[in-house]
Amino acid sequence: MNAPDIMSSDYESNPWPLLNEIRENHPITFHDGLNSWLLSRFEDVEKVLRSPTFTTENYGWQLEPVHGPTILQLEGTRHRLTRGILTPTLRGPSMRDTFEQVITQNSQRLIDGWQRDGHVDLVKQFTQKLPLSVILDVLGLDPDMKPTFRVWYNAIHDYFTNIAGDEAVHQAGLRVKEELQAYMLPLIAERKENPGTDLISKIVHAEIEGERLSDIEIKSFISFLLVAGSETTDLQMANMWLRLLEHPDQLAAVREDRSLIPMAFAETLRHTPAVLMIMRQASEDTEFHNTTVRAGELVTLLLAAANHDPRKYHNPEEFNIFRDGVDPAIELEKYASHSTFARGRHFCIGSKLAAMEVEISANQLLDSIDDIAFADGITPKQEGNFVRAPRSFPVTFTPS
Ligand code: HEM
Repeated sequence: MNAPDIMSSDYESNPWPLLNEIRENHPITFHDGLNSWLLSRFEDVEKVLRSPTFTTENYGWQLEPVHGPTILQLEGTRHRLTRGILTPTLRGPSMRDTFEQVITQNSQRLIDGWQRDGHVDLVKQFTQKLPLSVILDVLGLDPDMKPTFRVWYNAIHDYFTNIAGDEAVHQAGLRVKEELQAYMLPLIAERKENPGTDLISKIVHAEIEGERLSDIEIKSFISFLLVAGSETTDLQMANMWLRLLEHPDQLAAVREDRSLIPMAFAETLRHTPAVLMIMRQASEDTEFHNTTVRAGELVTLLLAAANHDPRKYHNPEEFNIFRDGVDPAIELEKYASHSTFARGRHFCIGSKLAAMEVEISANQLLDSIDDIAFADGITPKQEGNFVRAPRSFPVTFTPS
């Protein structure tokens, strides 16, 4: 029996049965469309992500054409030092002070906009808006540019997930690269002259082995951060609300005891990841389940399948924010039990910022609204093969 197709419409409508079938019965299988081996067991995904012989060269064709060269493609000392530019802002001890106000203000402003209406699209009017506002603030970019940035990052997302090779989507992605460059280069020159406290100023003035980054490297870095910092967080937030509204008992527990919000987020990361898969490229022959992945070949790591591996998790299909032995702080670190932030050297450096956005905004939402339910009792549909979440999420509540 052939392995189910992760690019099929069956997968798009509900990937879980197919992912489970692949992980249990086809632990390594070749996907022609992706021209890549699929790996799905926790142990194999972990092995690849931790191994120096699986590189991120694949991002050379997946991301570089739209962003320019990004941190994801770097390895070794240059990668470590480049990450070091971001670490103080995104993971340092003053992180809470830096972000608390901007997250609180943006989140409250959004809630104030619809709190009296009794209904809202939680994705279009909340989760999709907050992370972009936060990352623009972190970077010190003009908040009035939000609609333009949204157009840009949607085009970049479509480019990244354009497996079908649609030429219009391809061209739109390449155009965005030019537009972003035209916008960023004068801004970079300005920050060189007049640095502020924002992350762009820090990147512009950072030195790696005694040298500043080139303007193109800086522009690519910012372009990647804009997308990495906003889209994934907005999808992951939407997935958390989806699961909580589906489980009213767990939602009630979170409402009652807000210290459970990080547990709810950690369980959503494992149970309903926003990022379903990432790729790596083998630099040496490596064997998995009696099959050799040859040097130069691609592997696609099915993070979502690994997150539901029964060899690793008890009752993996169950959404349970009270799972034994889970420490939500550890779930934001390199040794997290789930694979949604990847692991190893490219582990998501923004995991703590994402968690802080979730924690603050969830608290505010629960403070502002006493009851919240799917509009007309209809559960929103998740969409996407590579990244997945509801794109529309109508809910109702008592206006206040
Ligand atoms: C819940 C939200 C998020 C998810 C699910 C997520 C997921 C990921 C994943 C899977 C990777 C690794 C990709 C790979 O190894 O191929 C990654 C890397 C990265 N993420 Fe996130 N991310 C999130 C939020 C953020 C935020 C808020 C930022 C902030 C700017 C961010 C910035 C980055 C950066 C810079 C990298 C590259 C790290 C490196 O190459 O060393 N992410 N993220």
